Amino acid sequence: LRAPYATTIDVNGQRYHLAIDVRTTLLDALRDHIGLTGSKKGCDHGQCGACTVMVNGRRVLSCLTLVATLEGRNVTTIEGLSQADGTLHPMQQAFIDHDAFQCGYCTPGQIVSAVACVKEGHAETDADIREYMSGNLCRCAAYPNIVDAIKQAKTKMKEA
Ligand code: FES
Repeated sequence: LRAPYATTIDVNGQRYHLAIDVRTTLLDALRDHIGLTGSKKGCDHGQCGACTVMVNGRRVLSCLTLVATLEGRNVTTIEGLSQADGTLHPMQQAFIDHDAFQCGYCTPGQIVSAVACVKEGHAETDADIREYMSGNLCRCAAYPNIVDAIKQAKTKMKEA
């Protein structure tokens, strides 16, 4: 067994001190050490997008990101999108409004990815949205509803 590696990680505006194996991924740290289980483990090797979070505003696959690379960076997970009073992020609300999920397993990753997609300016057309959301797989094939949700949220995010 390796000695635990001591590090700090900032998630959703809160600092966590961890003593973990140096090989621990961000996804495992979030789920198993911090208790934020919104980010989902689908494939655990970068193919499905269920684990998507943002690091300094850019989307990353947390299953392929080592905690050891994150000192001084800010991680945002699905839990960090809503406001303190429980008001949902426009993207979360839009996914509900448009029934943009069935089983819901991919949904946290879809929503985080969709927020980043809008912020990157890659949500101007349906084709753009499909292209830039193509790293997030949905086994229930809710794709048309996801595109509609992103279009609704894009307008609300611009107003905000
Ligand atoms: Fe990370 Fe599938 S769990 S991409």
